[in-house]
Amino acid sequence: MSKLEELKLELKNLGREYAKIKTLDPAERKAFGEKLNAKKQGLLAEIKALEDAAFSEDLPALDFSAPFGENAPKFTYKKGTKHPLTTELSIVGEIYRNMGFNVIEARQLDDEFHMFESLNFPEGHPARDGYDTFRTEEGFIPPAHTSTMQYRALTRFRGNLEEKGQIAVVVPGRVFRNEDVDATHEHTFYQCEGVFVSRSANMGQLLSVLKTFFETYYGQKLNIKTQPGYFPFTEPSLEFQIEKPAALGGKGDGWLEMCGCGMVHPNVLKTAGIDPEVYKGFAWGGGIDRLVMLKYGINDVRYFESGKLDFLKEF
Ligand code: DAH
Repeated sequence: MSKLEELKLELKNLGREYAKIKTLDPAERKAFGEKLNAKKQGLLAEIKALEDAAFSEDLPALDFSAPFGENAPKFTYKKGTKHPLTTELSIVGEIYRNMGFNVIEARQLDDEFHMFESLNFPEGHPARDGYDTFRTEEGFIPPAHTSTMQYRALTRFRGNLEEKGQIAVVVPGRVFRNEDVDATHEHTFYQCEGVFVSRSANMGQLLSVLKTFFETYYGQKLNIKTQPGYFPFTEPSLEFQIEKPAALGGKGDGWLEMCGCGMVHPNVLKTAGIDPEVYKGFAWGGGIDRLVMLKYGINDVRYFESGKLDFLKEF
């Protein structure tokens, strides 16, 4: 352990000492607290001095003949790591790519048409209120789900219908909802959308795509079930669930809803210039944060957006 790491550890341990204050006699608390504070200030100063030294290190004389990078200072601090969601999103994309899907990225600012009209939510439709959408002063919408990308995916890959007989796209992206935040709800989170269109697309294919995806992601066989759902952009609509496996902390009784899905509504195909008399589609969309929480046993979704280094360093 370097001197710097030792000092940081000492600081962390000191943090625990503060909890003892409560257990002390009121008369002793002040002196004890002052002693801890003095110790803490001393440690912080030592840490800062060491960290500053790493940055202001005297550079060696610049050698013009050296290969690129040789004149760079030799810093001693550690590089950061990728955010767990960044890592997991690329794993998710990779699994779908291996299954034959195109992967395109979602937007972080969208509009009324992509959020609602193109998805068969007519104006004034009550289901519009279910999405707790934010709006900018100009009327733009930070997307409340990745389904806003369906119209773009369908029109961008429409040509594939003639060439290959199908459209197969998934769209991971960041989404935003104006809702109260707690251990299972965030205003900012991630989803992954998928849409498939062909002359013979059907529910059996939808379920096999989802089962394959979740089993590959968790590296094990899973029991699945569906129940009826409602989304204006699919008919019929389903909620897709997996049974929480023992390896992921399940006791054989819990079902977890992993995504919404269904057969693409004919109006959605029509709006995207695809003839629903000829082509059928299925689509699905679900949260990535929840997927990752289950994989790693993370019990509070707020950690992801918190910037807490203790949490991030575990990955
Ligand atoms: N966008 C829905 C949501 O966030 C989930 C969803 C349901 C996506 C059905 C789909 C779908 O593509 O077909 O609640």
